[in-house]
Amino acid sequence: MKSTTYSEKVMDHFRNPRNVGILEGKHVAKGKVGNPVCGDLMEFTIKVKDNRIDDIKFKTFGCGSAVATASMITELAKGKTLEEALKITRKDVADELDGLPPIKMHCSNLAADALRDAIKNYQNKQKFKTEAEKDAKGDQKVILGEKEFLNNGVYHEAKNLSRFKEKRTLVLDRGVKSLELALSISQQSPRVVFLTPSKALSADEELKTKIKQSDVKILYESRLLEIMGLNTVEKVKIHDLNEDDEYELFMDAVVIL
Ligand code: FES
Repeated sequence: MKSTTYSEKVMDHFRNPRNVGILEGKHVAKGKVGNPVCGDLMEFTIKVKDNRIDDIKFKTFGCGSAVATASMITELAKGKTLEEALKITRKDVADELDGLPPIKMHCSNLAADALRDAIKNYQNKQKFKTEAEKDAKGDQKVILGEKEFLNNGVYHEAKNLSRFKEKRTLVLDRGVKSLELALSISQQSPRVVFLTPSKALSADEELKTKIKQSDVKILYESRLLEIMGLNTVEKVKIHDLNEDDEYELFMDAVVIL
């Protein structure tokens, strides 16, 4: 193909792009990328059902080739499993379009990358959900130091709230009860942290509002890995599930209901 000519298929998808728009609602994930060559943008949303792409839409501020490749890739990806869709390459898209002018090949990166980004985001979302569900079922991973510091900074109950007076206290998400407890402890100390593997709090609106108005700091998408100190709790190691990063926080007490 010459550097300036477009195939019939490219022209067709450019003039009548398929699946333009944005999807919303449950089981939807978004992918957004920019083209480093020209600075144009591409956004894909996918709706997943039984691990297959049930619906897909795109929006772009790209050129005609970007529109045509995005339109074609939506047709290629629809109905595929996430694993199959991840394997779609820019070459596959260009081939389906009967080729793209060589100087426009970079435009086809946008659609393939945005689709991949949407799939990865969906898979990450599912991973966090599974982690949160496991925790809710009590299928927690071992927390190093939990036994060692039991009743010496680590507590499995919190009947004696005055024990937390002015203490930096970490409360692990064990459902609504633990959230209510974090709220009660915040009456004793302004430094209460609530740690949850979830992206959002599972509580009714009233409790969420109270938490918002309190001093309780929420750490989302996080897991407690280790409790450390000499004779009593001094700090904890946290795993940020979103960034896949680990860091330490100074704490005096940890409550694990
Ligand atoms: Fe930017 Fe084609 S020139 S996407």
